[in-house]
Amino acid sequence: MSDNQKIPFLDLVGLHEEIEKELVHVFQKTLRTAGFIGGPMVEGFERDFARFSDAAHCLGVASGTDAVRFALMAAGVQPGDIVVTVPHTFIATTEAISQAGAQPDFVDIDERTYCMDPAKLQEYLERECYLDRETGKPFHRTRRAPVTAVIPVHIYGQAADMDGILELAHRYNLIVIEDACQAHGAEYFSKKENRWRKAGSMGHAAAFSFYPGKNLGACGEAGAVTTNNELLAQKVRMLRDHGQSRKYYHEMEGYNGRLDAVQAGILEIKLHHLPEWNQKRRQIAARYNELLRELSASLVLPCEPSWSRGVYHLYVVRTAKRNELQEHLTKAGIGTGIHYPVPVHLQKPYRTMGFKGEDFPVTENAAAQVLSLPMYPGLSLAQQDRVVEEIARFEKITESSLPVQPAVRA
Ligand SMILES: Cc1ncc(COP(=O)(O)O)c(C=O)c1O
Repeated sequence: MSDNQKIPFLDLVGLHEEIEKELVHVFQKTLRTAGFIGGPMVEGFERDFARFSDAAHCLGVASGTDAVRFALMAAGVQPGDIVVTVPHTFIATTEAISQAGAQPDFVDIDERTYCMDPAKLQEYLERECYLDRETGKPFHRTRRAPVTAVIPVHIYGQAADMDGILELAHRYNLIVIEDACQAHGAEYFSKKENRWRKAGSMGHAAAFSFYPGKNLGACGEAGAVTTNNELLAQKVRMLRDHGQSRKYYHEMEGYNGRLDAVQAGILEIKLHHLPEWNQKRRQIAARYNELLRELSASLVLPCEPSWSRGVYHLYVVRTAKRNELQEHLTKAGIGTGIHYPVPVHLQKPYRTMGFKGEDFPVTENAAAQVLSLPMYPGLSLAQQDRVVEEIARFEKITESSLPVQPAVRA
């Protein structure tokens, strides 16, 4: 098979070809001014990304992992606190919790959206915790630690069901940090407020990653915290810059976690294209849905509830024949991914926490069955047709030879 018949899982080369001149100009400008750290390019991007995310403040940082960690610390999470998240995420979510000195704990996801299930969060707070009268916060019965924060993850580019989560957070006095690392521009319809809200504007703060493969990606490492809280923004500003309030005056020990000017300039250029790129992703997802719906009852397609406008960072299908389908597509020259094959609670670093298989069955089933198909704004109709044709061929070959999984439809 020739290289141009192959369909990559993600094509960043093609994406950058369109805007190469503008990107090179950013690098030249930085070289000529030697303004590598801070300065107008960082401030300009922060202003524009805050506006894009409907947040009052945006603070550029060195990565999405730093963004989660700084957001937690700035919001007041203390060493030893429990921070509740989902096990169906990239490990950076829980790494950042540990790096903030806190300990992660988990609630399972919703089977259709793969995001935190508010009912499971409620169950966790009611059954596993009691309300500490002194602090007004939940206290975990067996782990003997206060639960102070929750991190819903807007996985695959779709917002978690935030109304229920925010309502519980309000009731239990919890900090909410959105992990929006995969969800630049995703929207959530809040019934409570009767309006659409942007990912990154709903919690006390939110974390974004600009890792190159993200919907808005740098040409290197980068991230951002968004928040509507001025005090929290000030703290993140200090944490990312060695705890400085001004040069060489340190209010605390901080980190070297700043966003480079070159990356900020590159992100600014790409931010102008993001609404159009996100729209293309939505069109590609709608077309996948249309073509695949006809194909097979065993293939579960992504579910976008009426309260969600996702940005399809990933287009994820689900099948009991996942490994076989992936192998078939690989042989046909079609790139795919698995996000994520091992749930976080079963990863090695968390073994001492005593979790076992079946603790979070929805996540564990998803981990065994999810498959991410090629998805990027430049995916052509012909390429998409070929992906669907190969899935159809696979379905024919394996028809009735493997158990059929009931489909969950939107
Ligand atoms: C859900 C989630 N959280 C956090 C991160 C961490 O971001 P970064 O790789 O920029 O540190 C990622 C990045 O892949 C992510 O997908």
